[in-house]
Amino acid sequence: MAGTGVSPRMRLIEQELETQWLGRPTTILAEVDSTNRWLKRQFMTGWAAHGAAVWSDAQTEGRGRLGRAWYSPAGANIYTSILLCPPRQRLSGVLSLVAGIAVVHAVRRHTGLDARIKWPNDAVIAGRKFCGILVEAGVEPEPWVIIGVGVNVGGPINPAFAHAVSLAEALGGHLVREDLWLDLMQSLEEAYDQWLNHGDQWVIQAWTSVNATLGQRVRVNRPGHDPWEGIAERIDSDGGLWLRQGTRLKKVIAGEVSIRLADGRYAPDSF
Ligand code: BTN
Repeated sequence: MAGTGVSPRMRLIEQELETQWLGRPTTILAEVDSTNRWLKRQFMTGWAAHGAAVWSDAQTEGRGRLGRAWYSPAGANIYTSILLCPPRQRLSGVLSLVAGIAVVHAVRRHTGLDARIKWPNDAVIAGRKFCGILVEAGVEPEPWVIIGVGVNVGGPINPAFAHAVSLAEALGGHLVREDLWLDLMQSLEEAYDQWLNHGDQWVIQAWTSVNATLGQRVRVNRPGHDPWEGIAERIDSDGGLWLRQGTRLKKVIAGEVSIRLADGRYAPDSF
């Protein structure tokens, strides 16, 4: 059941964080155009630094990957963005994998559901998407990455995408979004620190152990290009996907994966 805007607990949620540095500070908003855009504006004007987070109850121009919109009604979901400023020599696409790992770890810990990542960065349960991640990055005035996470917790699903799911629906019960957000911040701090300390190999291993794509026959819809079909073989440390077509291996940098079902059809996308 959807709530009504920012709860008193949500307003003060930073006080409940048990992280060392992530989400400090956290800004809570009732409504914003996009939390990614908001955080980027704060960073560019010198008001936000490494670890800063924002969580809005609603977005009026929520953005998804590949230029899509992200359905962002008020009252029951999570729309949050986190600013990370990694060491210059470590900035790479691997951070988008780190974000996906964190979401899946948090949801597994919180609900016990078999959450997985479908390449590149959709969090799914039984193939149905409940969370999207939008990662933006740059190097000026210093290396920065903004990780935007949209989780369908208990709110209505985008009516255009019947194949998406909310966590409440997947669980068959109510979830407290404040508790899940706290777990998400904890998991993201842990995953980022693991990557800093143990490098890209840790990320590839962690991602592989929670993914829903490798080993499957897939079709990759690539923006502006013909789709490719093949077996998803492995992930690269820049976030790319290696696809096997007979004896050839091809690398996909951007696209949308549909997994082939037992009857030969491809599963519908669920942006
Ligand atoms: C996708 O297309 O799957 C990515 C969706 C990302 C949505 C989140 S909601 C919080 C943050 N702010 C945005 O405008 N987008 C991301």
